[in-house]
Amino acid sequence: MDPADIRRLDHVHVWHPYTPAHTTNLPVTATDGIHLRLADGRRVIDAMSSWWAAVHGHGHPALVAAATEQIGRMSHVMFGGLTHEPAVRLATRLVDMTGLPHVFFSDSGSVAVEVAVKMALQYSRGIGHPERTRLLTWRSGYHGDTFAAMSVCDPDGGMHSLWAGTLAEQVFAPAPHTDGVGDYLDRFEMLVDATVAAVIIEPVVQGADGMRFHDPALVAGIREICDRHGILYIADEIATGLGRTGEMFATHGAGVQPDIMCVGKALTGGFMSLAATLCTAEVAAAIPTLMHGPTLMANPLACAVAGASLDLLAAGSWRADVARIEAGLRVGLEPLRGLAEDVRVLGAIGVVEMAEPVDTATTTRAALAEGCGCGPSGVSSTPCRPTSARTRRWRRSAAAWQRRCAHDHHGDRHGDGRRQDDRHRGPGQCPARSRDRRAPRQAGTDGTGRGGCGDHRGAHRGARRGVRPLP
Ligand SMILES: Cc1ncc(COP(=O)(O)O)c(C=O)c1O
Repeated sequence: MDPADIRRLDHVHVWHPYTPAHTTNLPVTATDGIHLRLADGRRVIDAMSSWWAAVHGHGHPALVAAATEQIGRMSHVMFGGLTHEPAVRLATRLVDMTGLPHVFFSDSGSVAVEVAVKMALQYSRGIGHPERTRLLTWRSGYHGDTFAAMSVCDPDGGMHSLWAGTLAEQVFAPAPHTDGVGDYLDRFEMLVDATVAAVIIEPVVQGADGMRFHDPALVAGIREICDRHGILYIADEIATGLGRTGEMFATHGAGVQPDIMCVGKALTGGFMSLAATLCTAEVAAAIPTLMHGPTLMANPLACAVAGASLDLLAAGSWRADVARIEAGLRVGLEPLRGLAEDVRVLGAIGVVEMAEPVDTATTTRAALAEGCGCGPSGVSSTPCRPTSARTRRWRRSAAAWQRRCAHDHHGDRHGDGRRQDDRHRGPGQCPARSRDRRAPRQAGTDGTGRGGCGDHRGAHRGARRGVRPLP
């Protein structure tokens, strides 16, 4: 299909994330390693590993080989009453990695969270506490877009207002902060009442709602609170898991074993959709029948690729790679400290938080012009393929961001010499921001990548505060 036709028909018919209908999006024709090939011939760095997923880079030969081998043998078979080697192999590996003996496969991170919530509620009933029907979490969290998942997302920045009266009412503690860990935990514990079945958090890094880091001591404290009250601790490791923060799982880095853990995103190295919810033997024992069963559950193709992806992590130098990226980000982003509200780095996550909202379309355009990323508001990227060039590429990204921040700081928010006031504001917003109802809902129409720009989850909310997660 001609690229112009792709764009046109996409605009007419295809709905993109967190947007109204009829947005304009950049056609991508191929991916390779850290690069996306755009239909207009440009080759740009995928600055957010396609929403944190492509941890080995795109098209890693080991994953291609696993997919090719598996698709020739068996692409899919239902999981009800049947099983297969790719699922069993993957489950076994996940059990070894997490120390949690039971694995429930599903098709996306949001569904993995739904399953975790079901597990917690069914467990509570199973142990004689049917009155425990709510979850406790902290503000500024993000856990997905399905209904139970949305109910534990940040109640202000999330979509609660859109779904008022429809979402389950959960219990919210203030957003985590690292001053006065003890005080914070005391206040947190006061929220545990007879209706709370479990605590769910993103351990150590709250990702999509602002890329905030917190003291691992908070995670340890939450584990203790859960133990004191006999309730479950659910670690949502969908974003933080599999090496992102420099630990294989952030909760383990905090020295804490959860009762339930969700993994997704990087599980298949970004090849296809697969997620898993794991739990302890105690949780499983209290649940007579787990009432969930996606049609493509434990899809053999996805499991085979995920197995190969975990093999790569097991055999590879991910820890050293992440440390190297972390060091590069620290050096590369340091000069921004004077221009930004905050600069922070953890593992392969770099964040530049601006004091004022950023214009995502402009930054997307500027990043594309630098060839350093389709979607500048994107979340960091964990290692792509280990090449010596990689560090230089990360530095290039950081340098491009420095230039952008300097522009913003000095009032040229467009990278073209115009000031913010000179410009029609509406179409300049990232359509992804429509997820935040307080943000404008205009579609991107100028063809500069807004429709596919940035990290949807971080971009629009982060943009509100000027948060810019970096490559
Ligand atoms: C912590 C966390 N949980 C859950 C999800 C939802 O995952 P998915 O987009 O695969 O449904 C995300 C996605 O960004 C996430 O970051």
